[in-house]
This record gives sequence, C-alpha cells and structure tokens, in this order.
Amino acid sequence: MHSDKKDFYEKNGYVILEKIFSDEEAEFFNRCVRRHANKSFAALINPDRYESLLEQDERPKSDITLSEIQETSALARSIMTDERMVSLLDIFHEKKTVGLSSQFIFKEAYSDYSSQAWRPHQDNFYPKSKNAAYITLNWFLRDADKENGTIYCYPGSHKLGLLPAENNISFREKVGDNPGSECDIPEDFKDKKTDIIIPANSVVILNGNCIHGSHPNNSNRSRPWYSSCYISEGEEFVIGKSSKREKINLKKP
Ligand SMILES: [Fe+2]
Repeated sequence: MHSDKKDFYEKNGYVILEKIFSDEEAEFFNRCVRRHANKSFAALINPDRYESLLEQDERPKSDITLSEIQETSALARSIMTDERMVSLLDIFHEKKTVGLSSQFIFKEAYSDYSSQAWRPHQDNFYPKSKNAAYITLNWFLRDADKENGTIYCYPGSHKLGLLPAENNISFREKVGDNPGSECDIPEDFKDKKTDIIIPANSVVILNGNCIHGSHPNNSNRSRPWYSSCYISEGEEFVIGKSSKREKINLKKP
C-alpha cells in the first residue's frame, strides 16, 4: 500500500496523502477547535491535553466551555492516536512510535496571525532526536496554496541531519514577527525551495529533518492545520518549555 508515495517520501522527506480521514471528520474537527481560538487566532499547543486547552481558552469558564474543552481535547487526542495515523507511521516511518505533542495552527484569514510565515527550519531542531527519529503528521483541514500560506520544503534536505540554527521564538511570538529557528541552508539546496500545494483534508507527512517554512496568508481563505508529532519508541528527546513533550501511547493496551 502507498508504495509510490513511500518512494516519494524517502526521496524528498515529505509526502501528501489525501482523505485519510473523511471530509465530515475534517469539517467537524475544525469547527470544534475554532471554539477555543483567542481573538488573534494564535496557535494552540497540545490541544489534545485538557489542562493545556483549558489554559489557552480565554473565554469565561462555564459548564458549557468546560464540556467543550473536554470534547475537543479528547477528539484531538483520538486523532493523534487514531489507527489510520498509526498505520501511516507503520508504513512511512517503519519504527514503532509514541506521540509527543501536538499543535493547531489556524492561519485564520484577516486575523492577527494571518501574516505569520515560518522561517525555514527543521522540526527536529526542537526535540533534537539524535537518530532522525522524529516525524510529524500534519492534517490540513482545508486546501493550502501559496496565497493562503501553504508550506514550502527543500526536498531531500532530510538526509542532511540536524543543521546549525538560530534559536528563535516559535510559539506565541509577537504579532508581526516570524517564528521558526532558521537553519543554514546548504548551497546545493538554495534553489530547491518547493511550494507544497495541498488539497483540502490531506495529511502531509514531514520528516523531522526536512527543511521547511510557510508563506503568509494574504487571501480570504483560512488555512487550519493540526500537527501531531511522534518519535520512535526508546529515542531520547528534549521536553521543551512550550511543547512539554511527553510519551503518549498510540496502541490500546
Ligand atoms: Fe515546522
């Protein structure tokens, strides 16, 4: 299954898989998470953890908001650990994995963060897996192209290992600043920047060492994206002040 996609992933360090979830699931999840956005539509870290979502939800607390936080965090966790995600990891990553953290990026049209454009970085800069054992599954709930802030990659850069990078703020940075710990792009890769055009309801698998960034959203279309992060079982990782990575079992006991 997915053998042509697997070859593509191994060569390039990323791959797009359409409709792993149903369109109804994508629409429902998007609606659930949007309830918790603040006025600026800042990213939510670990929305799959009740306490984390509770801390970031700025609405007045009531029995209704608390039950919504309960519902969304359970749903976000069930997506991260869903058997469809696990089977993608089995095929593309091949090693047994555990979940570590998650993030929801709204890139809401006309919001304070619509202009947010990530500098070129490697996701593994943050957890610092020594054996390139870090991987993310990124569920794009709506279509993404250059106008509404899609990601770009440097295909093949996942084979370079972890590169030197600046330590920039990458979570709740000041509006107008661009997040991402920018890495040095080797000379041979400088002309390889490729925009990734993503159909609505696709999962983009991204090798933790693949250099990528994103464009600002200059359109009237939001670009919501749920990113689940994983590492091979038994590998070391940095916990991180914002991400607070912790091992999350994917298989039911
Ligand atoms: Fe990233």
